[in-house]
Amino acid sequence: MNNEQSVIYLDHAATSWPKPPEVTEAVINAMLNDAANPGRGSHAMAVRASRILFETRKHLAKLFNIKNPNDIAFTSNTTMSLNMAIKGWLKPGDHVIATSVEHNSVRRPLYYLEQTIGIEVTYVESDERGFLNIDDVASAIRSNTTLIVVNHSSNLLGTIMPVAEIGELTKKHGIKLLVDAAQSAGIIPIDVRGMGIDMLAFPGHKGLLGPQGTGGLYINPEFDLVPLLHGGTGSQSEAREQPLVRPDRYEAGTQNTPGIAGLKAGVQYVLNETVEKIHTKEWTLTQRLLEGLKSVNGVKLLGPDLGEQRTGIVAFNLGGVDPSELSFILDQHYRIAVRAGFHCTPLAHACAGTTETGAIRASVGVFTTNEEIDALTTAIKEIAQQYGV
Ligand code: ALA
Repeated sequence: MNNEQSVIYLDHAATSWPKPPEVTEAVINAMLNDAANPGRGSHAMAVRASRILFETRKHLAKLFNIKNPNDIAFTSNTTMSLNMAIKGWLKPGDHVIATSVEHNSVRRPLYYLEQTIGIEVTYVESDERGFLNIDDVASAIRSNTTLIVVNHSSNLLGTIMPVAEIGELTKKHGIKLLVDAAQSAGIIPIDVRGMGIDMLAFPGHKGLLGPQGTGGLYINPEFDLVPLLHGGTGSQSEAREQPLVRPDRYEAGTQNTPGIAGLKAGVQYVLNETVEKIHTKEWTLTQRLLEGLKSVNGVKLLGPDLGEQRTGIVAFNLGGVDPSELSFILDQHYRIAVRAGFHCTPLAHACAGTTETGAIRASVGVFTTNEEIDALTTAIKEIAQQYGV
């Protein structure tokens, strides 16, 4: 299936690889046959390009239980989606609640708005494994709280946040709920209506198995966001204002039709497999990895314990070995690809007590095998012996 037969790829939290072959085929097919400008012309190829976008929206709407596919805007990644939501919703004087496992793609736009327009932010503390107490979220609500942002699953710890319970709180208090689904879309079931999610920011290139440069934002039709980008939409060309009609309002500029064609095939793959099965498979792999790593002297695991719910992320440290050095050895000597360092989430490292060291992170995907998991455990055992840990 891939050209890099020998690599053991355990960096799916950064981007999934390999993709199902039909994803690559869809990108190539769109490039060869359908890559006219969607929504900009009425000739047959432009119509086919528009159809690719619409059908992808329909697949995504089915996956996330979204009533109207046009409430989904395509973006280039989760970071762009989160910026659209945060900057499009918040106003001077607003108070936001976030959690202590947020990624920099939430922390940095919030900090920017704190500095520029004067919003206030409360980060509710999780425990060291990343678990959040819903009562602490409730206690943080103020009269000027207009938004709760939550990372559905920590990209360091793999902990799953109680989104549906937070959704009940936000509904009760008339607050908007923004969910960062970077590590959960296509990986754990998401039901925007059932969970009370007002905005869902998701990547196309991780659990949805699409190409890099794809992503999206669902926006509840009950409210408007100030668009991040203003420009051509192929609609209402005479108007100086950005059109109100969705998805045009949030999709200025030419869209990534070949990438979205690949995303469509990726979402179709996930729908066929079912998210429930994917989640169970990935959880089972993490349990095998946790068991293996627990048997190695000097390994300190981060995140939920064996038997607890989590996504396919396992972060750890090995004695005093520098995580970057460990990752280098895994890559160069064992051909195992993992991510080391701070994973763009200093907040989650503060929770886990790894602010000084960082950590190494292995993350599994739909095609990961038991043999690959065992190869990582064996490699860590050998390295531990070499270092005398
Ligand atoms: N946010 C991605 C990660 O955790 C890139 O690696």
